Amino acid sequence: MTRELLTGIGQLVTNDPADPAATGVDRLGLVADAAVLIEEGRVAWVGNASAAPAAARAAEVVTDLGGATVIPGFVDSHSHLVFAGDRSAEFEARMSGTPYTAGGIRSTVAATRAASDSELLARLRGFIRELHRQGTTTVEIKSGYGLSVHDEERLVALAASVTDEVTFLGAHVVPTDYAADPDAYVDLVTGPMLDACAPHARWIDVFCETGAFTVEQSRRILEAGAVRGLGLRVHASQLGPGEGVQLAVSLGAASVDHCTYLTDADIAALAGSSTVTTLLPGVEFSTRQPYPDARRLIDAGVTVAIACDCNPGSSFTSSMPFCIAVAVRDMGMTPAEALWSATAGGAAALRRSDIGRVAVGARADLAALAAPSYVHLAYRPGVPLVSATWKDGVRVA
Ligand code: NIG
Ligand code: FE
Repeated sequence: MTRELLTGIGQLVTNDPADPAATGVDRLGLVADAAVLIEEGRVAWVGNASAAPAAARAAEVVTDLGGATVIPGFVDSHSHLVFAGDRSAEFEARMSGTPYTAGGIRSTVAATRAASDSELLARLRGFIRELHRQGTTTVEIKSGYGLSVHDEERLVALAASVTDEVTFLGAHVVPTDYAADPDAYVDLVTGPMLDACAPHARWIDVFCETGAFTVEQSRRILEAGAVRGLGLRVHASQLGPGEGVQLAVSLGAASVDHCTYLTDADIAALAGSSTVTTLLPGVEFSTRQPYPDARRLIDAGVTVAIACDCNPGSSFTSSMPFCIAVAVRDMGMTPAEALWSATAGGAAALRRSDIGRVAVGARADLAALAAPSYVHLAYRPGVPLVSATWKDGVRVA
């Protein structure tokens, strides 16, 4: 058993405050001049370096980080990384005024169906390396660009080869061959497709939106997934207000994502629930839609997560630091709230207590920043501050 002591940490964000009711900066559980002992992939001790116990000082490996800031690795709880092709032409047209619609998904479906497993896997592994370089240590990955039993099964199996957080999203959009009979597609999703995909997945998701699935269809899909033991996630109120948020809350979904257009009733429902609201700043950035009001959600007591929603259509960024910067600049969050939402918030959205914080027993998933404090994540937008990343105690970038 090798123990590694990370020391020379100028500022450590633990997300483990002494007072569990702490808010704002206090919620980050900051420790100055800190050290972290890693043992068998977990945090074995954490605190001020001067208080390190003998076991920590006797670690076989001692790594001096030279004053870096260390944070919990980012938890990106929403992505669509198994796909082929890109939609840069669609993006370029959008920047000339063509609005975003759900219809673009079908062009990625065509490219993805035509790609081999090895092509998709090579791309997926490239994204995982890209995430590690940017400090992300956990990523949720959805299917949804297959939309046939065979292709959805392929996508969830490929996703499962690179992450534990796999989401079956057969209900992303109704594929062209079912356009005349969308309910027949819902039968397929809740029947043979779910049978094929559930063994590879932890979650089921549905795009509950005009142009995708109605609230009734979404309810059928989510309930069928729950019967198969899958946890629930929902895409809702991305393109306009709708009933998806209330549906997610009523079914006890772990997270409802996008939430660009919320009503007062939606916010009240979220505030009284265990459903996390996952905001996706890259989407509003890349589609030129209005940003959701995170300030209002937080002030109402809602648990907010931030994720990238990395996908070729609405948000082709894999950078959590970028999303933090946008959330601070344009969604009313403070730098401390945005960092919490990108780490502990993402963990809450995945109902995980072993990630998103630096505490004894948690996974040693960490990112070091070449900066004197976490504030620089938002203060220095676009600057690659992540200098090292550890997942399960192993240096991955
Ligand atoms: O989360 N909203 C639905 N799905 C994706 C977009 C997918 C695409 O445009 O290819 C999203 O924004
Ligand atoms: Fe999405």
